[in-house]
Amino acid sequence: MQVRDLSKYSGLNLKLNTKKHSLILGDALSKVSPAIRFLKEIKEVLVEKELSSPAELYYMYRDMHKIKDAERLAKHKLRYDVTVIRPGRLGNEFMKTAGHYHPGDFGELYEVLSGCAWCLLQRRNTGDERIIEDVILIKAKTGDKIVIPPRYGHILINIEKEHLVTSNWVSASFHSQYELYEKAQGAAYYIFEDSLGERFEANPYFKEVSRIRVALPAKEIKKFGLVSGAPMYSLLYKEAGKLDFLNNPLKYDYSDVFVFL
Ligand SMILES: [Fe+2]
Repeated sequence: MQVRDLSKYSGLNLKLNTKKHSLILGDALSKVSPAIRFLKEIKEVLVEKELSSPAELYYMYRDMHKIKDAERLAKHKLRYDVTVIRPGRLGNEFMKTAGHYHPGDFGELYEVLSGCAWCLLQRRNTGDERIIEDVILIKAKTGDKIVIPPRYGHILINIEKEHLVTSNWVSASFHSQYELYEKAQGAAYYIFEDSLGERFEANPYFKEVSRIRVALPAKEIKKFGLVSGAPMYSLLYKEAGKLDFLNNPLKYDYSDVFVFL
């Protein structure tokens, strides 16, 4: 069994079985079973729609928490999820998630527990969904936090040859909306691996797509209690107020959450 310890960056008793692509949950954690995202479910968002493997792409452990924290989570209307994304390629595309928007102005907060994450954010025009006004590619390393500002749809991309494991804090008040990514057959850009490295192609579904702005996550965001490398699960205890932006997104400014390259 190949096991990777995720406790340092998650602050939870959590391990990854890389052979089974599954998490090993410590005793104190709620026993959540993963929702599996199958290849056949996300074919619409892939360039190569005839692929047949791998059959399973990623595993979503929704509402993971220490059993003793259930009430605290409910009180703050928060949910903590962990996602395990397999290494590999989808034809020539990098391994990726299906992509979704949130209803209203809800944002999100991601943390990289293992591997490197690219997160492709896009904001659509409110009057015409086929116009993408802004595209940001966040390149995050293990321990980094990625704040998803209001109204940005997002996909996660695993460019490495190892598993990508992320956690996220999100408001418990809504469900993600996958329809616009399915309708568009993917995000604003497809990202391929070729002999020279990565290659970006704008998705022809869109009438207008802005150029990609590349950024790194800020290493420290004091107002949200975030420091790269420090587990964000522990905010739940003394600093749950720092996560208020997830339920009251428009009260906050997001101009300092990325460092543009
Ligand atoms: Fe999300």
